[in-house]
Amino acid sequence: MRVISVAAQKGGVGKSTTAHALGHGLILKGYTVLFIDLDPQGNLSHTIAAEEDGATMYDLLMREVTALDAIQHAGGGDIIPANESLSAADIELTKTGKEYRLKEALQSIADRYDYAIIDTPPSLGVLTVNALTASDILIAPSQADMYCLKAMWHLHGTIDAVKKYCNPSLVVAGILLTRHNGRAVLSHDMADLLKDIAEQIGTKVFNTTIREGIAVREAQARQQDIYSYAPKSNAAADYMAFVNELLDGGVNHG
Ligand SMILES: Nc1ncnc2c1ncn2[C@@H]1O[C@H](COP(=O)(O)OP(=O)(O)OP(=O)(O)O)[C@@H](O)[C@H]1O
Ligand SMILES: [Mg+2]
Repeated sequence: MRVISVAAQKGGVGKSTTAHALGHGLILKGYTVLFIDLDPQGNLSHTIAAEEDGATMYDLLMREVTALDAIQHAGGGDIIPANESLSAADIELTKTGKEYRLKEALQSIADRYDYAIIDTPPSLGVLTVNALTASDILIAPSQADMYCLKAMWHLHGTIDAVKKYCNPSLVVAGILLTRHNGRAVLSHDMADLLKDIAEQIGTKVFNTTIREGIAVREAQARQQDIYSYAPKSNAAADYMAFVNELLDGGVNHG
Protein backbone atom coordinates (compact mmCIF):
# COMPACT_ATOMS: atom_id res chain seq x y z
CA MET A 1 0.00 0.00 0.00
CA ARG A 2 1.36 3.39 -1.03
CA VAL A 3 0.39 6.01 1.53
CA ILE A 4 -0.17 9.55 0.25
CA SER A 5 -0.78 12.50 2.55
CA VAL A 6 -2.42 15.70 1.43
CA ALA A 7 -1.21 18.41 3.78
CA ALA A 8 -0.81 22.16 4.06
CA GLN A 9 -0.51 24.36 7.08
CA LYS A 10 -3.24 26.68 5.87
CA GLY A 11 -7.01 26.17 5.98
CA GLY A 12 -9.30 26.12 2.97
CA VAL A 13 -6.66 25.53 0.28
CA GLY A 14 -8.29 22.36 -1.06
CA LYS A 15 -6.74 19.57 1.00
CA SER A 16 -9.96 17.61 1.49
CA THR A 17 -11.13 18.29 -2.06
CA THR A 18 -7.79 17.07 -3.42
CA ALA A 19 -7.71 13.97 -1.18
CA HIS A 20 -11.20 13.01 -2.37
CA ALA A 21 -10.55 13.69 -6.08
CA LEU A 22 -7.15 11.98 -5.99
CA GLY A 23 -8.60 8.88 -4.33
CA HIS A 24 -11.49 8.60 -6.74
CA GLY A 25 -9.21 9.25 -9.69
CA LEU A 26 -7.08 6.29 -8.60
CA ILE A 27 -10.23 4.17 -8.20
CA LEU A 28 -11.21 5.07 -11.79
CA LYS A 29 -7.75 3.88 -12.85
CA GLY A 30 -8.57 0.50 -11.33
CA TYR A 31 -6.71 0.78 -8.03
CA THR A 32 -8.10 -0.05 -4.61
CA VAL A 33 -8.10 2.95 -2.30
CA LEU A 34 -8.57 3.49 1.42
CA PHE A 35 -9.50 7.04 2.45
CA ILE A 36 -8.15 8.10 5.82
CA ASP A 37 -9.57 11.15 7.58
CA LEU A 38 -7.14 12.66 10.07
CA ASP A 39 -8.99 15.96 10.45
CA PRO A 40 -11.37 16.52 13.42
CA GLN A 41 -13.52 18.61 11.04
CA GLY A 42 -14.44 15.31 9.36
CA ASN A 43 -14.98 16.92 5.94
CA LEU A 44 -13.69 13.95 3.96
CA SER A 45 -15.79 11.58 6.10
CA HIS A 46 -18.86 13.64 5.27
CA THR A 47 -18.18 13.70 1.53
CA ILE A 48 -17.61 9.93 1.51
CA ALA A 49 -20.92 9.60 3.41
CA ALA A 50 -19.46 7.75 6.41
CA GLU A 51 -21.89 6.75 9.17
CA GLU A 52 -21.91 8.94 12.28
CA ASP A 53 -21.71 6.03 14.71
CA GLY A 54 -19.03 3.40 14.70
CA ALA A 55 -15.31 3.41 15.35
CA THR A 56 -13.28 6.42 14.22
CA MET A 57 -9.70 7.53 13.80
CA TYR A 58 -9.69 8.63 17.43
CA ASP A 59 -10.39 5.07 18.64
CA LEU A 60 -7.70 3.78 16.31
CA LEU A 61 -5.03 6.20 17.55
CA MET A 62 -6.00 5.38 21.15
CA ARG A 63 -5.47 1.68 20.27
CA GLU A 64 -9.03 0.82 21.23
CA VAL A 65 -9.80 -0.76 17.84
CA THR A 66 -7.80 -2.26 14.98
CA ALA A 67 -7.58 -0.60 11.56
CA LEU A 68 -9.80 -3.31 10.13
CA ASP A 69 -12.46 -2.53 12.76
CA ALA A 70 -12.23 1.18 11.98
CA ILE A 71 -12.72 0.86 8.21
CA GLN A 72 -16.21 1.71 6.98
CA HIS A 73 -17.45 0.61 3.59
CA ALA A 74 -19.35 3.84 3.01
CA GLY A 75 -21.34 4.98 -0.02
CA GLY A 76 -18.39 6.96 -1.37
CA GLY A 77 -15.66 4.41 -0.69
CA ASP A 78 -13.72 2.68 2.08
CA ILE A 79 -12.75 5.10 4.83
CA ILE A 80 -11.42 5.35 8.35
CA PRO A 81 -13.58 8.31 9.38
CA ALA A 82 -12.96 11.12 11.84
CA ASN A 83 -15.10 13.47 13.86
CA GLU A 84 -14.54 16.20 16.46
CA SER A 85 -13.48 13.62 19.09
CA LEU A 86 -10.16 13.52 17.23
CA SER A 87 -9.32 17.03 18.42
CA ALA A 88 -8.49 15.48 21.82
CA ALA A 89 -5.61 13.56 20.24
CA ASP A 90 -3.32 16.59 20.54
CA ILE A 91 -3.72 16.49 24.31
CA GLU A 92 -3.93 12.74 24.82
CA LEU A 93 -1.06 11.65 22.60
CA THR A 94 1.89 12.67 24.72
CA LYS A 95 3.92 9.52 25.24
CA THR A 96 7.12 8.63 23.43
CA GLY A 97 6.31 7.17 20.04
CA LYS A 98 3.17 9.23 19.64
CA GLU A 99 4.25 10.17 16.09
CA TYR A 100 4.12 6.50 15.02
CA ARG A 101 0.58 5.61 16.10
CA LEU A 102 -0.96 5.83 12.64
CA LYS A 103 1.95 4.10 10.91
CA GLU A 104 1.71 1.22 13.38
CA ALA A 105 -2.06 1.00 13.04
CA LEU A 106 -1.91 0.79 9.24
CA GLN A 107 0.61 -2.04 9.15
CA SER A 108 -2.04 -4.72 9.64
CA ILE A 109 -3.98 -3.63 6.54
CA ALA A 110 -1.04 -2.78 4.28
CA ASP A 111 -1.78 -5.65 1.88
CA ARG A 112 -5.47 -4.82 1.45
CA TYR A 113 -5.28 -1.64 -0.65
CA ASP A 114 -3.09 -0.25 -3.41
CA TYR A 115 -3.28 3.28 -2.01
CA ALA A 116 -4.22 5.03 1.22
CA ILE A 117 -5.02 8.74 0.90
CA ILE A 118 -4.77 10.75 4.11
CA ASP A 119 -6.59 14.06 4.58
CA THR A 120 -5.01 16.23 7.28
CA PRO A 121 -6.06 19.19 9.43
CA PRO A 122 -4.90 22.77 8.68
CA SER A 123 -2.36 22.74 11.51
CA LEU A 124 1.00 21.15 12.13
CA GLY A 125 0.26 19.28 15.35
CA VAL A 126 0.60 15.64 16.28
CA LEU A 127 -2.05 14.56 13.75
CA THR A 128 -0.22 15.96 10.74
CA VAL A 129 3.07 14.58 12.06
CA ASN A 130 1.39 11.14 12.32
CA ALA A 131 0.23 11.49 8.72
CA LEU A 132 3.68 12.43 7.43
CA THR A 133 5.34 9.68 9.46
CA ALA A 134 3.00 7.08 7.98
CA SER A 135 3.33 8.35 4.40
CA ASP A 136 5.47 7.50 1.42
CA ILE A 137 4.43 10.63 -0.45
CA LEU A 138 3.27 14.13 0.42
CA ILE A 139 1.22 16.39 -1.81
CA ALA A 140 0.91 20.02 -0.69
CA PRO A 141 -2.02 21.95 -2.14
CA SER A 142 -1.66 25.70 -2.23
CA GLN A 143 -3.50 28.67 -3.59
CA ALA A 144 -1.60 31.41 -5.32
CA ASP A 145 -1.63 33.96 -2.50
CA MET A 146 0.82 35.40 -0.03
CA TYR A 147 -0.50 33.63 3.07
CA CYS A 148 -0.28 30.28 1.33
CA LEU A 149 3.33 30.98 0.40
CA LYS A 150 4.13 31.75 4.02
CA ALA A 151 2.33 28.61 5.12
CA MET A 152 4.48 26.60 2.73
CA TRP A 153 7.56 27.62 4.69
CA HIS A 154 6.01 26.40 7.93
CA LEU A 155 5.18 23.10 6.28
CA HIS A 156 8.76 22.89 5.06
CA GLY A 157 10.01 23.06 8.65
CA THR A 158 7.71 20.24 9.69
CA ILE A 159 8.71 18.11 6.70
CA ASP A 160 12.38 18.55 7.59
CA ALA A 161 11.76 17.56 11.20
CA VAL A 162 9.70 14.50 10.21
CA LYS A 163 12.35 13.42 7.71
CA LYS A 164 15.07 13.80 10.29
CA TYR A 165 13.40 12.09 13.25
CA CYS A 166 10.49 9.95 12.05
CA ASN A 167 10.42 9.15 8.34
CA PRO A 168 13.60 9.66 6.29
CA SER A 169 12.01 8.19 3.16
CA LEU A 170 9.15 10.70 2.90
CA VAL A 171 9.01 12.10 -0.64
CA VAL A 172 7.50 15.53 -1.25
CA ALA A 173 5.97 14.85 -4.66
CA GLY A 174 5.07 18.47 -5.21
CA ILE A 175 2.93 21.54 -4.64
CA LEU A 176 -0.45 21.47 -6.33
CA LEU A 177 -1.87 24.85 -7.29
CA THR A 178 -5.58 24.73 -6.42
CA ARG A 179 -8.62 26.96 -6.77
CA HIS A 180 -6.76 28.80 -9.49
CA ASN A 181 -8.16 31.85 -11.19
CA GLY A 182 -6.14 32.13 -14.39
CA ARG A 183 -7.48 35.60 -15.14
CA ALA A 184 -6.00 37.24 -12.06
CA VAL A 185 -2.67 38.87 -12.89
CA LEU A 186 -1.54 38.52 -9.30
CA SER A 187 -2.17 34.79 -9.49
CA HIS A 188 0.48 34.52 -12.22
CA ASP A 189 3.09 36.38 -10.14
CA MET A 190 2.30 34.22 -7.14
CA ALA A 191 2.58 31.07 -9.21
CA ASP A 192 6.12 32.13 -10.13
CA LEU A 193 6.95 32.75 -6.47
CA LEU A 194 5.55 29.35 -5.59
CA LYS A 195 7.93 27.77 -8.10
CA ASP A 196 10.87 29.46 -6.36
CA ILE A 197 9.73 28.16 -2.99
CA ALA A 198 9.24 24.66 -4.36
CA GLU A 199 12.80 24.71 -5.68
CA GLN A 200 14.16 25.78 -2.32
CA ILE A 201 12.18 23.02 -0.59
CA GLY A 202 13.60 20.53 -3.07
CA THR A 203 10.35 19.74 -4.82
CA LYS A 204 8.35 21.05 -7.78
CA VAL A 205 5.04 22.66 -8.61
CA PHE A 206 2.91 20.16 -10.51
CA ASN A 207 2.30 21.14 -14.15
CA THR A 208 -1.39 20.56 -13.58
CA THR A 209 -3.30 23.42 -12.00
CA ILE A 210 -6.77 22.95 -10.48
CA ARG A 211 -9.12 25.69 -11.60
CA GLU A 212 -11.75 27.27 -9.37
CA GLY A 213 -15.23 26.09 -10.35
CA ILE A 214 -18.69 25.77 -8.85
CA ALA A 215 -18.99 22.03 -9.61
CA VAL A 216 -16.61 21.24 -6.75
CA ARG A 217 -18.92 22.65 -4.08
CA GLU A 218 -22.01 21.20 -5.73
CA ALA A 219 -20.50 17.71 -5.84
CA GLN A 220 -19.51 17.95 -2.17
CA ALA A 221 -22.97 19.14 -1.16
CA ARG A 222 -24.38 16.03 -2.84
CA GLN A 223 -21.72 13.76 -1.35
CA GLN A 224 -20.57 12.72 -4.80
CA ASP A 225 -17.16 12.55 -6.38
CA ILE A 226 -16.42 15.16 -9.03
CA TYR A 227 -16.06 12.63 -11.87
CA SER A 228 -19.55 11.20 -11.33
CA TYR A 229 -21.24 14.49 -10.52
CA ALA A 230 -19.75 16.68 -13.25
CA PRO A 231 -17.62 14.60 -15.62
CA LYS A 232 -17.30 17.51 -18.06
CA SER A 233 -16.33 20.11 -15.47
CA ASN A 234 -12.95 21.83 -15.35
CA ALA A 235 -12.36 20.35 -11.92
CA ALA A 236 -12.93 16.77 -13.12
CA ALA A 237 -10.57 17.32 -16.07
CA ASP A 238 -7.95 19.04 -13.93
CA TYR A 239 -7.99 16.46 -11.16
CA MET A 240 -7.78 13.59 -13.64
CA ALA A 241 -4.84 15.32 -15.33
CA PHE A 242 -3.25 15.59 -11.90
CA VAL A 243 -3.75 11.87 -11.20
CA ASN A 244 -2.13 11.09 -14.56
CA GLU A 245 0.77 13.43 -13.83
CA LEU A 246 1.31 11.79 -10.45
CA LEU A 247 1.21 8.26 -11.88
CA ASP A 248 3.45 9.23 -14.82
CA GLY A 249 5.88 10.65 -12.27
CA GLY A 250 6.40 7.17 -10.92
CA VAL A 251 4.13 7.16 -7.89
CA ASN A 252 3.14 3.57 -8.42
CA HIS A 253 1.99 1.33 -5.65
CA GLY A 254 4.04 -1.59 -4.37
N1 LIG B 1 -11.25 23.89 -7.41
C1 LIG B 1 -12.19 24.40 -6.61
N2 LIG B 1 -13.18 25.17 -7.11
C2 LIG B 1 -14.14 25.69 -6.32
N3 LIG B 1 -14.22 25.50 -5.00
C3 LIG B 1 -13.27 24.75 -4.43
C4 LIG B 1 -12.21 24.15 -5.18
N4 LIG B 1 -11.42 23.46 -4.33
C5 LIG B 1 -11.96 23.60 -3.10
N5 LIG B 1 -13.06 24.37 -3.15
C6 LIG B 1 -13.92 24.77 -2.04
O1 LIG B 1 -13.16 25.53 -1.13
C7 LIG B 1 -13.46 25.18 0.20
C8 LIG B 1 -12.20 24.66 0.88
O2 LIG B 1 -11.80 23.46 0.23
P1 LIG B 1 -11.34 22.23 1.11
O3 LIG B 1 -12.33 21.91 2.16
O4 LIG B 1 -10.97 21.13 0.17
O5 LIG B 1 -10.03 22.84 1.74
P2 LIG B 1 -9.20 22.29 2.99
O6 LIG B 1 -7.80 22.72 2.76
O7 LIG B 1 -9.45 20.86 3.18
O8 LIG B 1 -9.84 23.11 4.19
P3 LIG B 1 -9.62 22.85 5.75
O9 LIG B 1 -8.26 23.39 6.04
O10 LIG B 1 -10.71 23.58 6.42
O11 LIG B 1 -9.68 21.36 5.98
C9 LIG B 1 -14.58 24.16 0.13
O12 LIG B 1 -15.81 24.81 0.29
C10 LIG B 1 -14.46 23.59 -1.27
O13 LIG B 1 -15.71 23.19 -1.77
MG1 LIG C 1 -10.08 19.82 4.84
